[in-house]
Amino acid sequence: MDKTVGVILAAGLGKRMRSDLLKVLHPVGGVPMVQLVLQTMRQAGVGRAIAVVGHQQEAVHQLLGEAVEYAVQAEQRGTGHALLQAAQMLTHAQELVVLYGDTPLLTPETLSLLLNTHRQTGASATVLTARLSNPRGYGRIVRDAAGRVTRIVEEADCSPAEAAIQEVNTGIYAFKPGPALAALNRVQPNNAQGEYYLVDAIPLMLEAGHRVEAVEAPDAEEVMGINTRAELAGAEASLRRRTLNRLLEAGVTILDPATTYVDARATIGRDTVLGPLTFIEGACEVGRGCRLGPGAHVVRSRLADGVTVLHSMVEDSSLEAGVTVGPYSHLRAGAHLEEGARVGNFAEIKNSHVGSGSKVPHHSYLGDARVGKGVNIGAGVVTVNYNGVEKNPTVIGDGAFVGCNANLVAPVRVADGGYVAAGSTINHDVPEGALAIARSRQENKPGWVKNRLASRSGTASTPSRNGAEQD
Ligand code: UD1
Ligand code: CA
Repeated sequence: MDKTVGVILAAGLGKRMRSDLLKVLHPVGGVPMVQLVLQTMRQAGVGRAIAVVGHQQEAVHQLLGEAVEYAVQAEQRGTGHALLQAAQMLTHAQELVVLYGDTPLLTPETLSLLLNTHRQTGASATVLTARLSNPRGYGRIVRDAAGRVTRIVEEADCSPAEAAIQEVNTGIYAFKPGPALAALNRVQPNNAQGEYYLVDAIPLMLEAGHRVEAVEAPDAEEVMGINTRAELAGAEASLRRRTLNRLLEAGVTILDPATTYVDARATIGRDTVLGPLTFIEGACEVGRGCRLGPGAHVVRSRLADGVTVLHSMVEDSSLEAGVTVGPYSHLRAGAHLEEGARVGNFAEIKNSHVGSGSKVPHHSYLGDARVGKGVNIGAGVVTVNYNGVEKNPTVIGDGAFVGCNANLVAPVRVADGGYVAAGSTINHDVPEGALAIARSRQENKPGWVKNRLASRSGTASTPSRNGAEQD
């Protein structure tokens, strides 16, 4: 049984976002806020987690899965009311950590600082605070003459003097569960919003003789709560900077940080160079010594060491060591390029395996194809994988050579070492080592041009026997 239980409040819709999507599901750095909060809690060593859900609870459940327990707040009547919905799940807890799902930048270090202070002082409640030059929108921390926290006042309820207080509530707390729940049960909705405020438990705990402590976050930026789209944009910028700094420290070169966007979950190996206008979305894994960009857009993909991607998009794909992509190619879902494969200018590849050392250098489309090792795909080759009803596979064996502008009408197979002549439309299998030509024979008509010009000017004497020169 975990002694410390973390509760994440995530039931509120977040009206100030003006969105159909639940506020805590909006991503920052590519990751939904509530997931970032959960991750931080886990990294700070909190093993058991409860999410309080309400609006769009199925979506939160689907995102966080079964590793989290759920308490439902059917009606959103305030943060205090939200926490009370988890009360029955806290009977064996010895320590309670409460976080709001809209605080995506919090680091495990700061959460640990709060927990350590809470444990060392033996307080019944410890509040993480922050000092802001512009405290707008936050609850203000009110202290007495001796500097002890006495209560927290929400902005709408502040007197002018209280509104000027720059120390704010971050909404991150550690509690002894018993005293906190006892106080919460006595909280009344006597405020401008008519809600049951979690913060109102603080004076009630003091009244009951419990000790309340506060600890200030070293970096105010990381405890910002996201209520609006403008704050979301601010958090995005902060997390992006943090991710890029992490990469720079890990030995990644970033030529233009201002135009480089990397998902918070991505990992990138040392000596990889990110060029300008590079986007790395999703939990990508990029190896060492890669060259991505200018203009690389890599989504949910795995790139081994020494991969090059120039002015190209790579989605849901796997690229082994030394693969080269681009400029101007599109790898769609399920492209798997083995070591040293080269995909060049204006190629599109979908759900296809390309063997090591094979080349797809110019203007080709491979869909549902399995290409062996050392294969050369000429310019303009197309796998005709769709017959209007279903997708069919194309198999091209090791060492095969497919000439320019060939259509491979699937299902079809070119065996190892098979050759396909340029311009062929192949709809029968090509045996091992054979040359397949599937195009009409060329016919040359001597003197045709001269005769045609003559017939135009009316000086032609004899019409041609086969009439082929007529328009
Ligand atoms: C809250 C704090 C404020 C603090 C600020 C820090 C209270 C009363 N106020 O204000 O002191 O400075 O956070 O960011 O606690 N939620 C529920 N159920 C509800 C209401 C809210 O689950 O009935 C959840 C929301 O989904 C959200 C979190 O609680 O994730 C905070 O709610 P929000 O409305 O954003 O509180 P603030 O006004 O920002
Ligand atoms: Ca908030």
